[in-house]
Amino acid sequence: MRLFDLKGKVAIVTGSSKGIGRSIAENLAEAGAKVVISSRKAPACEEVAAGIRQRGGEAMVVPANISDKAQLENLVAATRKAWGRVDILVCNAASNPYFGPMVGLPDEVFGKIMQNNVLSNLWLCKLVQPEMAERKDGAIIIVSSIGGLKGSAELGAYCISKAADFQLARNLAVEWGPKNIRVNCIAPGLIKTDFARALYEDPARKAARESETPLRRLGEPDDIGGIAVLLASKAGSFITGQVIVADGGVTVR
Ligand SMILES: NC(=O)c1ccc[n+]([C@@H]2O[C@H](COP(=O)([O-])OP(=O)(O)OC[C@H]3O[C@@H](n4cnc5c(N)ncnc54)[C@H](OP(=O)(O)O)[C@@H]3O)[C@@H](O)[C@H]2O)c1
Repeated sequence: MRLFDLKGKVAIVTGSSKGIGRSIAENLAEAGAKVVISSRKAPACEEVAAGIRQRGGEAMVVPANISDKAQLENLVAATRKAWGRVDILVCNAASNPYFGPMVGLPDEVFGKIMQNNVLSNLWLCKLVQPEMAERKDGAIIIVSSIGGLKGSAELGAYCISKAADFQLARNLAVEWGPKNIRVNCIAPGLIKTDFARALYEDPARKAARESETPLRRLGEPDDIGGIAVLLASKAGSFITGQVIVADGGVTVR
């Protein structure tokens, strides 16, 4: 357990009121970290935090919309005020307001996707970097997607943003590595959350996806949560700039 022990660490997880972010927050807490639960809706975050406390963990709630820089500044400031530090940052929240061909994509929607899914991650990374650099210790995890590894006819801008996250992690890994700040991406395949509901709700589409997946099933949020523990802990201490794919084998077929 020592390799995966996060006792004494403080973690911020964006988009942790449900889905993948919730599993990441719960698993980090299970490993001993104090976790900050954050999304736009405070009541949903409070429920997750209460569950963690009930199981003996430590959690607090700071609502923040990732599209608002001031709210992200407050997220980091409120965490430091309560717990004095940020050791682990998980940039998980993202948005995809457009489904369809690139030819129909309005410029402002493209800009919004890139801002929410890439620029807001950079904002958060820059906010936590100085204290991590000073301590020469920090773990940053960006939840990207296997969408960033392949071409797409329907999720074009989203996939561009997720590919950009891979490069963001690589750049920051190189730039901040000398300060022992590790920056990695997790790239999930199709995971059963509200976000991806349209991709698995239709039984025929779901069955087709399952049959093309070597593990013959879709992912669950808890298939991802433990990877964050690995990347944040001593067990992952020599991993940086990487993309950890968790997709049941879809991309290796
Ligand atoms: N599910 C999949 O198949 C899949 C596959 C690959 C990658 N991913 C990635 O995994 C991450 C999490 O997705 P998920 O599937 O877990 O989605 P989800 O279950 O819909 O959860 C999304 C979370 O993000 C929060 N959120 C949404 N917009 C936000 C905003 N503007 N500001 C702050 N928080 C916001 C939501 O809470 P509020 O509504 O309260 O803000 C919620 O906590 C995303 O980066 C997504 O791209 C998902």
